[in-house]
Amino acid sequence: MTVHFIGAGPGAPDLLTLRGRDLIAACPVCLYAGSLVPEAVLAHCPPRARIVNTAPLDLDAIMAEIAAAHRAGADVARLHSGDLSVWSAMGEQIRRLETLGIAYTVTPGVPAFAAAAAALGAELTLPGLAQSVVLTRTPGRASAMPPGETVAAFGATGGTLAIHLSIQNLARVVADLLPHYGPDCPVAVVYRASWPDQRILRATLATIEATCSQSDAEITRTALILVGPALAAQGFAESRLYAADYDRRYRPQSAGSRWADWTSGDD
Ligand SMILES: C[S@@+](CC[C@H](N)C(=O)[O-])C[C@H]1O[C@@H](n2cnc3c(N)ncnc32)[C@H](O)[C@@H]1O
Repeated sequence: MTVHFIGAGPGAPDLLTLRGRDLIAACPVCLYAGSLVPEAVLAHCPPRARIVNTAPLDLDAIMAEIAAAHRAGADVARLHSGDLSVWSAMGEQIRRLETLGIAYTVTPGVPAFAAAAAALGAELTLPGLAQSVVLTRTPGRASAMPPGETVAAFGATGGTLAIHLSIQNLARVVADLLPHYGPDCPVAVVYRASWPDQRILRATLATIEATCSQSDAEITRTALILVGPALAAQGFAESRLYAADYDRRYRPQSAGSRWADWTSGDD
């Protein structure tokens, strides 16, 4: 018996990996985080599967479901939104599985920040403007931030920030970032990226609060705040990678190129 942790993606049921879909179809038990995982993903469960929404359960109750499946020899599909590497609570479940000697696998999913960038049609790393993306959040009722991990500290890098779980702290985010990015820095709020009711609000640090409060959509959760110069840039440099005169392994520029004799490689 194995517990398969599966990243269920940002919301659209077809933004699920083929491996994830096939595992869901093969498992007689499915535990899903119903606060964010759309019910449409559950259509891949086999007939008569035991399907449990874990949103109202505590960790002990979730582990009791897994232990019951273990006793019955039934594989479990464990679905969390987006990808499992960030804010999934997978870590604490794996720790308990290891204590119990229960096998598990991990199948990645499309993270919300990638779905939001896709909705914006934006590359978050543009030459000369931003070469880092910081996935972060502000403190919440249930989660304090470790010392040093502040939005202001990450803002001091000038990179692109993808701020999760924080739309209710927008005023604080703006105040912390204004000294680093200035009032004209582009900001986007993407609500429920890839869902049918997806909304995109574009503004600047100076105007994003007013833009959100004037919006007809009530955006109080399931939204990402993206901040940084890459978000609205037009005048950025082209990358060297595809420059006609750039000597590289896959496009040697002359017989004397350091790459002339290379026939394979991974970059
Ligand atoms: C508990 S975290 C889950 C993150 C998830 N594991 C991932 O890989 O993106 C929930 C937060 O992710 C963001 N989020 C999740 N799904 C989203 C979506 N479809 N559109 C915009 N933001 C989303 C929001 O900031 C939300 O508050």
